[in-house]
Amino acid sequence: MNEQILITYASRTGTTAEFAQAICETLQQAELNVKMLPLDDVKDLSGYSAIIIGSPIRKSEWLPEARHFIQSHQAILARKRVATFTACITLAMSNAEQYRRAVREWIAPVRTKINPVSEGLFAGRLDFSKLPWSWDVLGLRVTVALGIFPKEDRRDWNAVHAWAASLPKLLLQ
Ligand SMILES: Cc1cc2nc3c(=O)[nH]c(=O)nc-3n(C[C@H](O)[C@H](O)[C@H](O)COP(=O)(O)O)c2cc1C
Repeated sequence: MNEQILITYASRTGTTAEFAQAICETLQQAELNVKMLPLDDVKDLSGYSAIIIGSPIRKSEWLPEARHFIQSHQAILARKRVATFTACITLAMSNAEQYRRAVREWIAPVRTKINPVSEGLFAGRLDFSKLPWSWDVLGLRVTVALGIFPKEDRRDWNAVHAWAASLPKLLLQ
Protein backbone atom coordinates (compact mmCIF):
# COMPACT_ATOMS: atom_id res chain seq x y z
CA MET A 1 0.00 0.00 0.00
CA ASN A 2 1.51 3.38 -1.01
CA GLU A 3 -0.67 5.58 1.14
CA GLN A 4 1.28 6.71 4.18
CA ILE A 5 -0.24 7.85 7.47
CA LEU A 6 1.61 10.30 9.71
CA ILE A 7 1.22 10.11 13.48
CA THR A 8 2.54 13.27 15.10
CA TYR A 9 2.33 14.51 18.66
CA ALA A 10 3.33 17.04 21.27
CA SER A 11 4.26 15.69 24.69
CA ARG A 12 5.94 17.20 27.75
CA THR A 13 6.35 14.17 30.02
CA GLY A 14 6.01 11.28 27.56
CA THR A 15 2.40 10.18 28.01
CA THR A 16 1.16 11.36 24.63
CA ALA A 17 4.34 10.11 22.95
CA GLU A 18 3.63 6.63 24.36
CA PHE A 19 0.04 6.81 23.10
CA ALA A 20 1.41 7.74 19.65
CA GLN A 21 3.67 4.68 19.82
CA ALA A 22 0.77 2.39 20.75
CA ILE A 23 -1.37 3.81 17.91
CA CYS A 24 1.55 3.32 15.53
CA GLU A 25 1.95 -0.33 16.56
CA THR A 26 -1.75 -1.06 16.09
CA LEU A 27 -1.76 0.47 12.61
CA GLN A 28 1.41 -1.36 11.64
CA GLN A 29 -0.16 -4.63 12.78
CA ALA A 30 -3.00 -3.80 10.37
CA GLU A 31 -0.24 -3.56 7.71
CA LEU A 32 -0.62 0.16 7.16
CA ASN A 33 2.31 2.29 6.10
CA VAL A 34 2.79 4.55 9.13
CA LYS A 35 5.38 7.15 10.10
CA MET A 36 5.61 8.61 13.60
CA LEU A 37 7.28 11.99 14.28
CA PRO A 38 7.19 14.58 17.07
CA LEU A 39 5.43 17.75 15.86
CA ASP A 40 8.70 19.71 15.84
CA ASP A 41 10.16 17.32 13.25
CA VAL A 42 7.28 17.65 10.78
CA LYS A 43 8.12 20.01 7.95
CA ASP A 44 5.85 18.97 5.09
CA LEU A 45 2.50 17.19 5.18
CA SER A 46 2.01 16.89 1.43
CA GLY A 47 3.27 13.29 1.17
CA TYR A 48 0.79 11.82 3.65
CA SER A 49 -2.70 10.64 2.83
CA ALA A 50 -3.89 10.95 6.42
CA ILE A 51 -2.60 12.56 9.61
CA ILE A 52 -3.15 11.69 13.27
CA ILE A 53 -2.30 14.52 15.68
CA GLY A 54 -2.02 14.17 19.46
CA SER A 55 -1.56 16.55 22.38
CA PRO A 56 -2.01 16.49 26.13
CA ILE A 57 -4.24 19.03 27.84
CA ARG A 58 -2.69 21.78 29.94
CA LYS A 59 -4.98 24.30 31.59
CA SER A 60 -7.96 23.07 29.58
CA GLU A 61 -6.26 23.43 26.20
CA TRP A 62 -4.02 21.54 23.82
CA LEU A 63 -0.34 22.46 24.23
CA PRO A 64 0.59 25.74 22.47
CA GLU A 65 2.88 23.95 20.00
CA ALA A 66 0.03 21.63 18.95
CA ARG A 67 -2.37 24.57 18.53
CA HIS A 68 0.29 26.37 16.51
CA PHE A 69 0.82 23.28 14.34
CA ILE A 70 -2.82 23.02 13.29
CA GLN A 71 -2.95 26.77 12.74
CA SER A 72 0.10 26.85 10.52
CA HIS A 73 -0.86 23.71 8.55
CA GLN A 74 -4.58 24.44 8.48
CA ALA A 75 -4.85 24.75 4.69
CA ILE A 76 -3.27 21.40 3.92
CA LEU A 77 -4.99 19.67 6.84
CA ALA A 78 -8.32 20.75 5.35
CA ARG A 79 -7.52 18.64 2.28
CA LYS A 80 -6.49 15.52 4.24
CA ARG A 81 -8.22 13.04 6.46
CA VAL A 82 -7.27 13.90 10.04
CA ALA A 83 -7.84 12.25 13.43
CA THR A 84 -6.84 13.70 16.79
CA PHE A 85 -6.07 12.20 20.17
CA THR A 86 -5.85 13.90 23.54
CA ALA A 87 -4.39 12.89 26.90
CA CYS A 88 -5.57 14.45 30.14
CA ILE A 89 -5.65 13.59 33.82
CA THR A 90 -9.36 14.39 34.17
CA LEU A 91 -10.20 11.19 32.28
CA ALA A 92 -8.11 9.19 34.79
CA MET A 93 -10.45 10.19 37.63
CA SER A 94 -12.67 7.45 39.01
CA ASN A 95 -15.76 9.46 37.98
CA ALA A 96 -14.24 10.47 34.63
CA GLU A 97 -17.29 9.70 32.51
CA GLN A 98 -19.15 12.71 33.83
CA TYR A 99 -16.33 14.98 32.60
CA ARG A 100 -16.02 13.53 29.09
CA ARG A 101 -18.25 16.21 27.58
CA ALA A 102 -16.19 18.95 29.26
CA VAL A 103 -12.99 17.43 27.90
CA ARG A 104 -14.53 17.42 24.41
CA GLU A 105 -15.21 21.13 24.87
CA TRP A 106 -11.54 21.78 25.65
CA ILE A 107 -10.69 20.62 22.15
CA ALA A 108 -13.52 22.51 20.46
CA PRO A 109 -11.01 25.15 19.20
CA VAL A 110 -9.11 22.33 17.45
CA ARG A 111 -12.32 21.12 15.84
CA THR A 112 -13.05 24.55 14.38
CA LYS A 113 -9.71 24.61 12.54
CA ILE A 114 -9.56 21.03 11.28
CA ASN A 115 -12.35 18.58 10.84
CA PRO A 116 -11.26 15.32 12.46
CA VAL A 117 -12.91 12.07 11.39
CA SER A 118 -12.37 10.79 14.93
CA GLU A 119 -11.18 12.11 18.31
CA GLY A 120 -9.51 9.78 20.80
CA LEU A 121 -9.81 11.00 24.40
CA PHE A 122 -7.56 9.14 26.80
CA ALA A 123 -6.73 9.10 30.49
CA GLY A 124 -3.19 10.44 30.89
CA ARG A 125 -0.99 10.45 33.94
CA LEU A 126 0.81 12.86 36.20
CA ASP A 127 4.52 12.05 36.32
CA PHE A 128 5.86 14.49 38.90
CA SER A 129 9.39 13.12 38.42
CA LYS A 130 9.37 14.80 34.99
CA LEU A 131 7.64 18.05 35.93
CA PRO A 132 9.78 21.03 37.00
CA TRP A 133 8.55 22.99 39.99
CA SER A 134 5.82 25.56 39.31
CA TRP A 135 2.74 26.84 41.09
CA ASP A 136 0.60 24.89 38.61
CA VAL A 137 2.44 21.67 39.42
CA LEU A 138 2.14 22.40 43.14
CA GLY A 139 -1.62 22.77 42.58
CA LEU A 140 -1.69 19.39 40.83
CA ARG A 141 0.21 17.81 43.75
CA VAL A 142 -2.44 19.14 46.08
CA THR A 143 -5.25 17.65 43.97
CA VAL A 144 -3.44 14.31 44.09
CA ALA A 145 -2.93 14.60 47.86
CA LEU A 146 -6.66 15.28 48.19
CA GLY A 147 -7.42 12.15 46.17
CA ILE A 148 -9.04 14.08 43.29
CA PHE A 149 -6.51 13.12 40.61
CA PRO A 150 -4.89 9.69 40.82
CA LYS A 151 -1.22 9.27 41.65
CA GLU A 152 -0.92 5.97 39.84
CA ASP A 153 -0.84 5.27 36.12
CA ARG A 154 -4.42 4.58 35.01
CA ARG A 155 -3.86 4.69 31.28
CA ASP A 156 -6.22 2.35 29.45
CA TRP A 157 -4.10 0.77 26.73
CA ASN A 158 -7.02 -1.32 25.48
CA ALA A 159 -8.95 1.89 24.79
CA VAL A 160 -5.98 3.34 22.90
CA HIS A 161 -5.50 0.21 20.77
CA ALA A 162 -9.25 -0.08 20.15
CA TRP A 163 -9.42 3.53 18.98
CA ALA A 164 -6.40 3.01 16.72
CA ALA A 165 -8.01 -0.12 15.27
CA SER A 166 -11.08 1.92 14.33
CA LEU A 167 -9.02 4.39 12.27
CA PRO A 168 -8.09 2.61 9.01
CA LYS A 169 -11.62 2.57 7.64
CA LEU A 170 -12.08 6.24 8.61
CA LEU A 171 -8.72 7.51 7.36
CA LEU A 172 -8.29 5.51 4.17
CA GLN A 173 -11.42 5.60 2.02
C1 LIG B 1 0.78 22.27 34.32
C2 LIG B 1 -0.20 21.18 33.95
C3 LIG B 1 -1.50 21.52 33.65
C4 LIG B 1 -2.43 20.51 33.34
N1 LIG B 1 -3.72 20.87 33.07
C5 LIG B 1 -4.63 19.89 32.87
C6 LIG B 1 -6.00 20.23 32.67
O1 LIG B 1 -6.40 21.39 32.60
N2 LIG B 1 -6.89 19.21 32.56
C7 LIG B 1 -6.50 17.88 32.61
O2 LIG B 1 -7.36 17.00 32.53
N3 LIG B 1 -5.20 17.54 32.72
C8 LIG B 1 -4.26 18.51 32.87
N4 LIG B 1 -2.95 18.18 33.04
C9 LIG B 1 -2.55 16.76 32.99
C10 LIG B 1 -1.89 16.35 31.67
O3 LIG B 1 -2.81 16.48 30.58
C11 LIG B 1 -1.43 14.89 31.78
O4 LIG B 1 -0.45 14.84 32.79
C12 LIG B 1 -0.90 14.32 30.49
O5 LIG B 1 -0.85 12.91 30.58
C13 LIG B 1 0.49 14.84 30.15
O6 LIG B 1 0.86 14.37 28.87
P1 LIG B 1 2.38 14.41 28.35
O7 LIG B 1 3.16 13.46 29.24
O8 LIG B 1 2.30 13.90 26.94
O9 LIG B 1 2.89 15.80 28.44
C14 LIG B 1 -2.01 19.15 33.31
C15 LIG B 1 -0.68 18.85 33.58
C16 LIG B 1 0.23 19.84 33.89
C17 LIG B 1 1.65 19.47 34.19
